[in-house]
Amino acid sequence: MTTRSSDHAAAPVSTFAQALEAAAGTAALSPSSHNCQPWGLARATTTAARRAAADLTGQDADEYLVLALDRERELTALAAHAVEMEVSCGIYWRILLRALAAQGWTAAAVRTLDGDGLTGSGDETGSGGGSGSASGSRGASGAVGGALLGAGWPAAWTPLCVVALRPGTPSAERLDDLRETALARRTHRGPYRPAPVSAELLRDLAKTASPEGGKDAVRLRHLTERRDLRAFAAFVARHAGLDFAHRAAWRETHSFLRRDLADAAARGDGFTLEQLFGPMSRPRRAAMRRALAPATMHLLGKVGYHRVLAAGLADIVRRTPAVVTMGFAERAPARAELLRGGARLADYWWRATRHGLSLHPVSIVIQHEDLRVRLERELSLPGGRTFFVSRIGVAGRPAPHSHRRDDAAGHVAI
Ligand SMILES: Cc1cc2nc3c(=O)[nH]c(=O)nc-3n(C[C@H](O)[C@H](O)[C@H](O)COP(=O)(O)O)c2cc1C
Repeated sequence: MTTRSSDHAAAPVSTFAQALEAAAGTAALSPSSHNCQPWGLARATTTAARRAAADLTGQDADEYLVLALDRERELTALAAHAVEMEVSCGIYWRILLRALAAQGWTAAAVRTLDGDGLTGSGDETGSGGGSGSASGSRGASGAVGGALLGAGWPAAWTPLCVVALRPGTPSAERLDDLRETALARRTHRGPYRPAPVSAELLRDLAKTASPEGGKDAVRLRHLTERRDLRAFAAFVARHAGLDFAHRAAWRETHSFLRRDLADAAARGDGFTLEQLFGPMSRPRRAAMRRALAPATMHLLGKVGYHRVLAAGLADIVRRTPAVVTMGFAERAPARAELLRGGARLADYWWRATRHGLSLHPVSIVIQHEDLRVRLERELSLPGGRTFFVSRIGVAGRPAPHSHRRDDAAGHVAI
């Protein structure tokens, strides 16, 4: 690593390629639903691609990067997965831009692309990690988008966002700290200590500034009152079975279940049974593997097995000292809002990790439209659409680390 990240006043000492490698390596440790890692990253290198990126961002900058959604890796079983995918890409993008900013590569402009990235109004957004966030003044025409997606652009990628970057003063953040937190951050699905999380700490987490320093697109709430936590656990017990019993959703979840650590390491994505349910004996693991196979789950569902799984989840939720919920102000948020939501979640999760707190998302309660609306009503959640619900607390024991695919930290040149 050649970046002198401790010397904030100095000009960047690494080349952009080195800075990008370090930033992408850190961002690749980001969380994503089912650990599917649905992001793609492209660096504009050809004259045509650079010109298209300059047109889209309205900036003649030194470097341009494009964030993409990899449709070969995305979850599709439920409509709500579309939101989760872009939120996951937003987390990755935020950490990438923070890591670049820490090395002196500042976002001069960030442009979100609508729809398939070739069409649409192309609203401007600043979901980046740099100080500046200018608008793309020249508009996103199909021709401009098309030039961006020329040779080298993977057919299965949907472009989400373009950033124009310039070298400058590194941000106040140290790359080493960002990476250390990325390595320490893990989804902890086991029990948390029952002692309340300090109210001051939760206030601090709730205050996390919106990435672009403007209006906060995310409505955040912490549930800490016994009554609210009980109501949430009861909701999980009553309704989480729906997801386990949903054939398409379960088939997709099961396709991310890896046989063992070696399988997870080889494939570089998904999770093992131990990651989901904690340490277990070999016979129990074998029995669970059989029970969770989609065909068996379907049969066992007829005798209420999905309710047993929901009760187990509810039990762990009931013993959690706090729950965090995040919602978009709008009922139907645009792509820029989805990416901002991911950015906010990234900031929250990284900051919580630094404070020794762990998270365990419980998305099951918001993945079905009717359930989500009911949860929002029963718990009086703020915002037009809840996109993240998670336990938060101090984990009893360390969680196993999850794997990343070999190319998760890479990028393509376009
Ligand atoms: C938007 C989002 C939703 C998630 N929902 C769930 C969930 O419902 N249940 C769960 O156990 N983990 C959930 N996770 C955590 C992922 O499974 C986890 O990030 C991934 O397996 C990688 O593991 P790691 O976070 O330990 O690196 C979610 C993560 C994200 C980003």
